[in-house]
Amino acid sequence: MTKQNDVVERVLELIDGLPVGDAIPSERQLSSDLGVSRPTLRAALEGLVRGGYLVRRQGSGTFVGRPKIAQELTITSFSEDMRRRGMAPSSRTIELRVTTAGARLGQVLHVSPGEPIVVATRLRLADGDTMAIETLHIPSALVPGLRAKDLESGSFYDLLEQRYGIVIVSGIQTIEPTVTNEEESAALGVPLHSPAFLFERTSRARSGQIVESVRSIYRGDRYKLVTELSPNAGRELAGRSGSGHGVDNDQRRLQAAAEGGGT
Ligand code: GLP
Repeated sequence: MTKQNDVVERVLELIDGLPVGDAIPSERQLSSDLGVSRPTLRAALEGLVRGGYLVRRQGSGTFVGRPKIAQELTITSFSEDMRRRGMAPSSRTIELRVTTAGARLGQVLHVSPGEPIVVATRLRLADGDTMAIETLHIPSALVPGLRAKDLESGSFYDLLEQRYGIVIVSGIQTIEPTVTNEEESAALGVPLHSPAFLFERTSRARSGQIVESVRSIYRGDRYKLVTELSPNAGRELAGRSGSGHGVDNDQRRLQAAAEGGGT
């Protein structure tokens, strides 16, 4: 395992700075250059292909993949995120329907179970490449007249602001590792059970009202998460008072928020 990690590091060093799409040396060449056995090298390359650092093309070799998008954990929209990186965002609405919230979503969205909600699934693209699938749940009363086409022509957050006067200012998001199912793989154009991130976001308007609950599947080969590590207030407090409860309380508060209880 350590040997394999070592090889991964060395191949990453080798491709660092190489242009996207450049061919890497053959397996035979690499195993002799790096002084490792073919099976170890192959296992390391396999991992790098799965992670999106390398791309394999049947019959023609292995090439440098596109660097991953370093996704910050902020309340920004997909469109804004992509534009900031100089990429052109677009969307395809796979489905839009109106249904009743039901008990679970009613609780998350703070509406009664019988309240109508819009459920919309969109494929999100950047420069024409698939990046994510997102399913929005919004109380219908907040977005009268919302059509599938509206969600394709631009950003939902922009539309919320411009047409409905709702500005998203905060939210809670959970992130879990997952793999793509059949439907997601087909829509994203990736092999079945490809690594992915599952984001679940509940967003609030300035008034404090819950606006959307969103389930997103982001491609694991295109994204990595980046976050600034802020000082741990809990630990400082615990250090001062001599008890470890500050940390526990922080965790309880975040957990309650993630479960929709607010803070
Ligand atoms: C991100 C979030 C979603 C949010 C979306 C809005 O992708 N994960 O929760 O609904 O942005 O994006 P846009 O305004 O581009 O439609």
